[in-house]
Amino acid sequence: MTVAEVERILPIEQQVYSHPWTRGNFIDSLAAGHLGWVGSDGEQPVAYWVAMAVLDEFHLLNLAVARDRWGQGWGRVALQHMVAVAQERDSAQLWLEVRVSNTRAQALYAREGFEPMGLRRGYYPLNAQQREDARLMRRLLKEPAL
Ligand SMILES: CC(C)(COP(=O)(O)OP(=O)(O)OC[C@H]1O[C@@H](n2cnc3c(N)ncnc32)[C@H](O)[C@@H]1OP(=O)(O)O)[C@@H](O)C(=O)NCCC(=O)NCCS
Repeated sequence: MTVAEVERILPIEQQVYSHPWTRGNFIDSLAAGHLGWVGSDGEQPVAYWVAMAVLDEFHLLNLAVARDRWGQGWGRVALQHMVAVAQERDSAQLWLEVRVSNTRAQALYAREGFEPMGLRRGYYPLNAQQREDARLMRRLLKEPAL
């Protein structure tokens, strides 16, 4: 993901999230050295992910597919690509948070080998008064050293 590509994925971000990342959030993330990828159909960006690699852990920060392309396998393609990048970097485990209400994303993660590891209470904003819990999920890429 390049800074130029951020401009092109912002409409997707605003379309699919109740609390989207801003242009600044993406730029700051890239400047902090996080990894990002954009998948396109021809010229059109369709899916993307952003992740943070720390030591032997990979942490998914953002994954999205354009609303009119849901259910066509793009989410799986993006997630499998992220897993491949983590494996190339010799990561031992992948972590992510997902809203407890986001059953669609949880189904995708479960299909790709992520397991629920717990809840982070009030992790996400919901509305002006309330917050929503995150489900913490993990996929092991290597057995932990004893
Ligand atoms: C979550 C998201 C990335 C899924 O993308 P997608 O392209 O629709 O996913 P895919 O087509 O690859 O589907 C993969 C799996 O998702 C699940 N899924 C697909 N359609 C579904 C539906 N209508 N209901 C529930 N689960 C569904 C299934 O497990 C599916 O596996 P299957 O193909 O064997 O049925 C997409 O809906 C999205 O961008 N959502 C908004 C952003 C978001 O919530 N990101 C995750 C933040 S943690």
